[in-house]
Parts: sequence; structure tokens; C-alpha cells
Amino acid sequence: MRDISLHILDIAENSIRAGSSLVRIGLHADKERDELKLVIGDNGCGMSKELLSRVKSPFTTSRTTRKVGLGIPLLAANCEATGGRLDIESEIGKGTTLTAVFQFSHIDRPPLGDIAETLATLTIMNPSVDFVFSAKYNEAFDYDTRQIKAALGDVPVTQPDVMTFIREYLKEGIKQVFGGNEI
Ligand SMILES: Nc1ncnc2c1ncn2[C@@H]1O[C@H](COP(=O)(O)OP(=O)(O)O)[C@@H](O)[C@H]1O
Ligand SMILES: [Mg+2]
Repeated sequence: MRDISLHILDIAENSIRAGSSLVRIGLHADKERDELKLVIGDNGCGMSKELLSRVKSPFTTSRTTRKVGLGIPLLAANCEATGGRLDIESEIGKGTTLTAVFQFSHIDRPPLGDIAETLATLTIMNPSVDFVFSAKYNEAFDYDTRQIKAALGDVPVTQPDVMTFIREYLKEGIKQVFGGNEI
């Protein structure tokens, strides 16, 4: 089964393919409401109403290299298996926002997986795209590549010491919020 971090990678890759310059990712766990909410918003090309209406069913894709599109249907199925849901809002030329809600305590709710590694990979593999991440549970943690890049000046995010810094920073922040990957 796909963990939450792999869903994030999948959905963020859709955003990157849609030409987004900024991808916002929010991961909020709420014990009282028994909810884990993942929100991924982008400023990419958006989807037509027609595409949006069929994107949750398998085999919808705009790829030409292979026919099956499964990223969104898999996320929808994983949400629904916990009694949650996946909502998608999209507007051509403006962008797309996916909101995935899982029942937090449900036995079938996927584990978080390695969120820090996923975010580090997205940052390093897509230096021209900015990522904003916010996590909330025991505490809050925010990550914004625009701030990191401004502080770095001419030094690229792909510089080895910078990559190490980004990984450690994310690992530390996410551990503070979720207490490792145990939840
Ligand atoms: N953020 C997005 N912006 C624009 N179009 C999107 C976005 N996410 C998904 N799509 C469209 O929905 C299709 C299906 O997405 P997905 O289920 O992840 O399958 P795949 O990525 O393999 O095509 C994509 O091919 C793309 O046309
Ligand atoms: Mg996809």
C-alpha cells in the first residue's frame, strides 16, 4: 500500500507537470476530529471541467507515454477506505487544489512514510519550482523553499552541503511535529 509520502510525491509531480512555479503542501493531523488532512495546491495550468469530472476514475491521463493514470484514483481509494474523501478544485490557467481527508485512527489509514525525504527530493529535483510545506499535530512546522533560496543567494539547492542541510532541517522539523514516522 502507498504511504502518505508517496501520495505527496505523486500528486506534487502532477503539479510540476502542470507547469506550476509554486506548490503548497499541508499535512494536518487532528486527534479531536479524528482526521488527517492533506492539502496540495498549485498554480499550474489547471484542468477543464470535463477532465476534472473524470479524473478520479482510473485510466484518465493526459500522458502520451503510457495510458493509465492512477495517482489520483489511488489517493481517492485510500481516503475512501477510511471513510474519508478526496475533493479537487481546479480552474484553467489558475491552478488545482486537492484536499484528501483520512480518518486518523482508521486501521486502513496509510502510515506517513518518509515525508522529509519526499520533500527534500522534490526540492532538489525541481530547483526552479518552489515548495511551501506546513505540518501540524503536536506542534507546527513550516518549510518554504523561497526563504531558503533567498538566504542561499547564488548557491544552488543542489550543492551537496545545502542538500544535507535541507534533509536534516526537514527531518528535525517533521520529527518535532509527528514524533518520527510512528503515527
Ligand atoms: N495538478 C494538476 N494540474 C493539472 N492537471 C492535472 C493535475 N493533476 C492531475 N492532472 C491531470 O489529471 C490526469 C490524471 O492524473 P493522475 O491520476 O495522477 O495520473 P497520471 O499522472 O499518471 O496521468 C493527468 O494526466 C493530468 O492530465
Ligand atoms: Mg500523476
